[in-house]
Amino acid sequence: MTTVEPEARAPERQQPRVEPVRTSEELALVYAIRSEVFDREQHLTTWVRDYPEDAESLNVLAWIDGEAVGTGRVSLWGDEAQIAWVAVRKPYRGRGVGRAIMEYLIHWAREHGARTVTLNAQTHALEFYRKLGFRPVGRPFYMAHIEHQLMERELQPRAEGGTG
Ligand SMILES: CC(C)(COP(=O)(O)OP(=O)(O)OC[C@H]1O[C@@H](n2cnc3c(N)ncnc32)[C@H](O)[C@@H]1OP(=O)(O)O)[C@@H](O)C(=O)NCCC(=O)NCCS
Repeated sequence: MTTVEPEARAPERQQPRVEPVRTSEELALVYAIRSEVFDREQHLTTWVRDYPEDAESLNVLAWIDGEAVGTGRVSLWGDEAQIAWVAVRKPYRGRGVGRAIMEYLIHWAREHGARTVTLNAQTHALEFYRKLGFRPVGRPFYMAHIEHQLMERELQPRAEGGTG
């Protein structure tokens, strides 16, 4: 029987590693991914950088094999966390990168006292967010030319020992 050694696996089998952005060089990678996905791919917006919230929020990068492949941001307003700018570069989709980014952001939100997490989902990604425990709130709406849906997830405080 032929066995495949771990080191012989293709790079695409590697698990993503999610890390907070710490340097201006890493923030530039965040903006590059936003630009690739939200500007050049989706034509949602040409302005993807230097929002006031960027400086006050946690931005993360997902890494595979030393390459930045995805990003996301979480902001905290009182006990409400808001997630935005979640994007995975096209060749890396469908292998758990988006989930890893979201789980990191949700964990961070809970650790920092959030009781709810909200986000404006593009409706094509509703199922992605549903699988992460989010439910739609209200009716869909259009932002630029893309249909969106406000979604929310309640969090159990860490002290209560809940997982979700
Ligand atoms: C939406 C996006 C972030 C998902 O990232 P991803 O890395 O492909 O998602 P994952 O591989 O982690 O998927 C996690 C789960 O969600 C499901 N899923 C992901 N995208 C989905 C979609 N568009 N429709 C239905 N299900 C989806 C996966 O099948 C997987 O299900 P499983 O856990 O049962 O296997 C990515 O497609 C993307 O960047 N799209 C362009 C930008 C965008 O639309 N961002 C969202 C802005 S609101």
